[in-house]
Amino acid sequence: MAKHRIALIEGDGIGHEVILAARRVLDAAGFDAEYVDAQAGYEYFLEHGTSVPDATYEAVENTDATLFGAATSPTDKPAGFKGAIRHLRQKYGLYANVRPTKTRPVPGAFENVDLVLVRENTQGLYVEQERRYGDTAIADTVITKDASQRIGRYAANLALQRRKKLTVVHKANVLPVTQGLFLNTIMDDVAGIQGLNVGTMIVDNAAMQLVRNPQQFDVLVMTNMFGDILSDLAAGLVGGLGIAASGNIGDKFGIFESVHGSAPDIAGQGVANPTATVLAAVLMLQHLGETELAAKIDNAVNTLLTEGPRTRDLGGTAGTEEFTKALIGYM
Ligand code: NAI
Ligand code: MG
Repeated sequence: MAKHRIALIEGDGIGHEVILAARRVLDAAGFDAEYVDAQAGYEYFLEHGTSVPDATYEAVENTDATLFGAATSPTDKPAGFKGAIRHLRQKYGLYANVRPTKTRPVPGAFENVDLVLVRENTQGLYVEQERRYGDTAIADTVITKDASQRIGRYAANLALQRRKKLTVVHKANVLPVTQGLFLNTIMDDVAGIQGLNVGTMIVDNAAMQLVRNPQQFDVLVMTNMFGDILSDLAAGLVGGLGIAASGNIGDKFGIFESVHGSAPDIAGQGVANPTATVLAAVLMLQHLGETELAAKIDNAVNTLLTEGPRTRDLGGTAGTEEFTKALIGYM
């Protein structure tokens, strides 16, 4: 019997290509796993009327971790459609969206960036409670004390394992009730933690500071939409969406995925950069305690990014296949 059981969800668009590549890399690295293929996303919705079938719930629930490709969320949502990844995050209480952002050897990357952005993953504006009254539209934002405490503690613990610096990013100056609850709950809760250096920063300043002086940050924690936006900004500092990975982590389950979407503009062309999904697999391996395998793949990624060949998004000409083969060759 294999040591681990892993659910693989390709999803939509380039999800198919990058999951296949990541699986080949995991196999080549010697990861001892049995894979369960599961479906989710917009393509599945169009055929079957649901974006996440029951078999996918079973796959997530009966495996050690899930590796997810990408899922399309059309701007013009058809009736009954739920964004697959947002739905899974909520269903399984995957409250921590963890996005490590570290300088990689790629053109245009900032030097010496090593931060982790921790995004609250189940609440805020992304509870998707919107309505319209004539020409007025309203969206709810939900913040609870429990969820704020939970994400604050997760981020504090992570910081304690790193450079022991936590920045709570917020907009409590304008939204003292919702953002204030988030900020004050975390500040009260982590105040007494020995050896932890905690600071606060208003989100618009945080955006500017991330661009001007990203080296000052270790772990940042924030509500859902701020995290969505700032984590793409952070990805841009170190090489872009082609190499940015994330983990959606709860008390029971973990779903690991790239930060990018289904990239319909390049889907099916064999040119997608699989690095983000490979690095999501590295996060998954770390989560499973397979730290040596994780380091082996991570090092091979850095060698490949240094030596080439590179994919088009990083200024090269390699397709997914050539890139994946080269990566396997560096392990
Ligand atoms: P996107 O991330 O799919 O693409 C943005 C740009 O980056 C595109 O030009 C794309 O070609 C490029 N790109 C992305 N990943 C790449 C890769 N691995 N290699 C090379 N180039 C890459 O974002 P976009 O276009 O805003 O959204 C497309 C769809 O994906 C939408 O339906 C959106 O809702 C969905 N989406 C899903 C996410 C998820 O599944 N977690 C996250 C973000 C978007
Ligand atoms: Mg996003």
